[in-house]
Amino acid sequence: MLRVPSILLLTLVNMAPALAQVASVERGRVTFTAECSRCHVPTEMDARLNAKWIGRSGQELFEQVRSTMPAETPGSLSNEEYYDLTAFILDSGNVNIEGGTISVPELAALTINPAAMTADVNAGISVPWADYHGDKGANRYSALDQINASNVADLEIAWSFDTGSFGPRPETYSASTPLMVNGKIYATAGATRNVVALDAISGELLWLWRPEEGERFNDAPRKGSGKGLSYYNDNGQETIFTITPGYYLVALDAQTGDPLPSFGAGGYVDLQSGLRRGVGRDDLDIGISFPPLVVENIVIAGAAHEGGGDPPCSTRHGGFRFEHIVRASCVKSRDTPPRHGDKCGPQGWDVRSKSGIASSSSG
Ligand code: HEC
Repeated sequence: MLRVPSILLLTLVNMAPALAQVASVERGRVTFTAECSRCHVPTEMDARLNAKWIGRSGQELFEQVRSTMPAETPGSLSNEEYYDLTAFILDSGNVNIEGGTISVPELAALTINPAAMTADVNAGISVPWADYHGDKGANRYSALDQINASNVADLEIAWSFDTGSFGPRPETYSASTPLMVNGKIYATAGATRNVVALDAISGELLWLWRPEEGERFNDAPRKGSGKGLSYYNDNGQETIFTITPGYYLVALDAQTGDPLPSFGAGGYVDLQSGLRRGVGRDDLDIGISFPPLVVENIVIAGAAHEGGGDPPCSTRHGGFRFEHIVRASCVKSRDTPPRHGDKCGPQGWDVRSKSGIASSSSG
């Protein structure tokens, strides 16, 4: 008969739980209450997962929590406790941990994905508003159903953002529509049309970009915060496009707010250049308060005159610009109204229009 020394047997029995490496939602709850609940509540975790974690792995979440939490003493708990916490966070975020336990390899390999979440959470904050009008078809519709006729009266202000100190003086009226992508809100702010990124959950200011256009701003026909921005994601390079009051098309890195060097000249394309009434003309009154429209890899920038009137026919000289995002070269520029004999002239435009509109929002 094989005799196993009792001391070895004891060791094996003691090691059993560690070898099995099972993370427990319940143990995670206890640790969470002791270590995390002074700053967090479990119900906030689903918004956090939806904001940043969809498509990422359980292991990444574990590592993020271990290296950053608790905020004052990151890494101060054992790996087992961090795995338990990871299971608890996922469970609180409605990623179903069946039976309340999961093996560590399974937990690490798990993809945090909307299909694993309940319909309620799936209809939550993860639904982006990535276009000025909600989508390219300008439907201004979102499938979110958490807010409905029965609970809309109970909504409370979670946070507010004061734009009073943006620009030389407070703007009295802002018609800007923010974008919301991956838990970040992007908006224009103030008369000089600054761009800000805010944390959608807390309202914290993540970055601010100021156009600083000097004379070009002073002479601009369309000042103010404008209507909004455009978002573009090129294989993970998230970009925010804005048109400044001074009529530059600018690409900003959505993570940092810095102009994107790969676009135009250091992130800028001067939309006045190439116009019939181009750079340096005193009588130039072309600008726009609408964001550009991004379709696949083309940015379309519109044009408008000074607001509030119908400019005389002779001065209606707007124009569309189609900028290639990668090369930032002008693919096509279309004058409005078309010039006689213009190569890309009348066939591209409805020249029967009585007003011969020059203002074209592109939104
Ligand atoms: C002293 C306050 C404090 C404590 C204690 C604390 N946290 Fe946090 N936690 C924060 C703050 C602040 C943030 C937001 C950081 C941010 O959004 O950049 C955060 C963010 C998080 C996030 C989101 C991370 C992300 O990148 O999406 C998770 C998950 C989290 N905490 C888990 C925990 C857990 C688990 C514990 C307990 C072990 C814990 N926190 C303890 C303050 C705290």
